[in-house]
Amino acid sequence: MILSIESSCDDSSVAVTAIENRTLLFHRKISQESEHARYGGVVPELASRLHAVDLPRLLKEAKPYLDDLKAVAVTNEPGLSVTLLEGVAMAKALSIAKGLPIIAVNHLKAHIYSLFIEKPTRFPMLVLLISGGHTMVVDVADFDRMDVVASTMDDSFGESFDKTAKMMGLGYPGGPVIEALARKGDPERFSLPVPLKHSPKIAFSYSGIKNAVRLLVKEHSPLDEQTKADIAAAFQRAAIEHLLQKCRKIFRQRKPKDFAIVGGASANAAVREAFANLCAEFGTALHLADLRFCSDNAAMVGRYALDAYERGLFCDAMTLSVSPRSKDF
Ligand code: KG4
Ligand code: ZN
Repeated sequence: MILSIESSCDDSSVAVTAIENRTLLFHRKISQESEHARYGGVVPELASRLHAVDLPRLLKEAKPYLDDLKAVAVTNEPGLSVTLLEGVAMAKALSIAKGLPIIAVNHLKAHIYSLFIEKPTRFPMLVLLISGGHTMVVDVADFDRMDVVASTMDDSFGESFDKTAKMMGLGYPGGPVIEALARKGDPERFSLPVPLKHSPKIAFSYSGIKNAVRLLVKEHSPLDEQTKADIAAAFQRAAIEHLLQKCRKIFRQRKPKDFAIVGGASANAAVREAFANLCAEFGTALHLADLRFCSDNAAMVGRYALDAYERGLFCDAMTLSVSPRSKDF
């Protein structure tokens, strides 16, 4: 079995995965969302203090499995250094106490592996990763051949939902709140610009929509409930249209047989529907992770670790460190 740990942002999570048959034997997560909500975003120092309390609680729950482990896997990049360190410190303690090798896991690759939890690995695949920290299209040829095809020049897709929600006083995280509000709104009432619409660039940008939302909010303040819903609907429509326009260009060039969407924002039903249509247009198979594995979790870290374990990719407690940036992407 492999024990896996995730603490790259505001979710503390621990999982245990069986090596032989990929079964997820144990999976728990404590989200800090409500703790950060009143600040309108993740406060790194608060997040690390919460991980210091929550991770050992989760490890204690996993105690029945601790004598059967072959390795301990931990997210060590990219993310908030102060929160990554909490998970890495726990992994090192376990490694030294039990004589276990450590598997260092890249968070973005773990999101890609969320597609394969309790399933076989399936490559090649073109993958859209949309989360709070990243917006990118990755050409995944194999375990160790992942190339970024497009990425964001400024804000990420999820972050733009968080910032829109914050501007309307709706708390954190913005994604689920904006999605729910957008269902009640009229997307025709306001027209927001689709970023890079006339640019041949294959890249993403969300700072322009954010500024357009800021102006709308200012113009219509104090916002009544219907106006909030209408802004949410217009924002979500433009944000998704931007993803679609750029991905359509990539589809035309690459004609992918298999396409996947991963990351916290891949839980969005309007995103899923829009891409189901795009994939149908190109005869591409669409792959999505289970809703419970879209946001940060240790199950995906453990699933990536299974493939790393097979390849003997271990590191040492004395040398492993963390990095806020991804070394591979
Ligand atoms: O992958 P994730 O849990 O953490 C990061 O690696 O960043 O993604 C969190 C992000 C947040 O920005 C959150 O607002 C966004 O995903 N998100 C959504 C939805 N659910 C979560 N964005 C749009 N629609 C959603 N339903
Ligand atoms: Zn994530």
